[in-house]
Amino acid sequence: MGKKRDKHELYQLAVQDVEAEIDFVVDSFEEFRGRRAKSLREDFCGTANTACEWVRRSPEHRAMAVDLDKKVLAWGQKNNVGKLSKGQQKRIKLINADVRDSGAKPVDVVLAMNFSYYLFLTRAEMLGYFKSVHRTLKNDGLFFLDAYGGYDAPKEIEERRDCGDFTYIWEQASFNPIDSQMQCYIHFELPDGTLMNRAFSYYWRLWTIPEIREILTAAGFQETWVYWEGTDPKTNEGDGIFSQTEEGDADPGWICYVVAEP
Ligand SMILES: C[S@@+](CC[C@H](N)C(=O)[O-])C[C@H]1O[C@@H](n2cnc3c(N)ncnc32)[C@H](O)[C@@H]1O
Repeated sequence: MGKKRDKHELYQLAVQDVEAEIDFVVDSFEEFRGRRAKSLREDFCGTANTACEWVRRSPEHRAMAVDLDKKVLAWGQKNNVGKLSKGQQKRIKLINADVRDSGAKPVDVVLAMNFSYYLFLTRAEMLGYFKSVHRTLKNDGLFFLDAYGGYDAPKEIEERRDCGDFTYIWEQASFNPIDSQMQCYIHFELPDGTLMNRAFSYYWRLWTIPEIREILTAAGFQETWVYWEGTDPKTNEGDGIFSQTEEGDADPGWICYVVAEP
């Protein structure tokens, strides 16, 4: 029975919170620009779950979703796009391309979420990507990224999280301090004991916020803003509320948003 679970479905359940992500984008865009964003491009979209949430939110919303991997796009088309209404489906387009060269028209919002851009291993590659985002944003558009770190981030450790009817396992398998590159895996454990070993594998560089901001500036972005998550006093965990600040806490594991203005 366990074998029938689908790794993309488990990923969406365990890793993504597309409602909260789009709430943040909608509210921040309106605050920055005094208007509502309409067009959005989801880079490294995987199953295009976030882009689907965007088009569900408003009949004014249009989305493009870009990924290199045809198979994951096909899964997203069938399981996410296919479940939208006909009208919603007309406002979303999946694009099989490199994010640096998707041929997409200028948009209000570009998203690079779940740290996917950490896959670019050198400053030159990252600069190339950020420049391509800068070129394909409207003049008053915004680029949204997330970032993670903390003193546990470069450790070779495994973290387990109970997700109800399965367990999500995040493994930091190796970290090389000389180039800051690391191998990470996502595994899933099912109630019958089945292990979906290495369901997802990421080889990336553990970038720091100042590096990311410096490269955004070098790519032509005028301003960059960091939104840090508050702490729930009861649990001492993140409370899901992100506020703009220049001072974060020395947490073992943090995530934040970065917003860049072209
Ligand atoms: C960590 S997953 C991201 C999933 C999704 N964005 C999310 O928020 O959970 C990374 C995705 O980026 C895609 N990818 C990697 N390099 C890419 C590139 N240069 N251009 C487009 N997609 C790329 C992979 O195929 C994979 O689906």
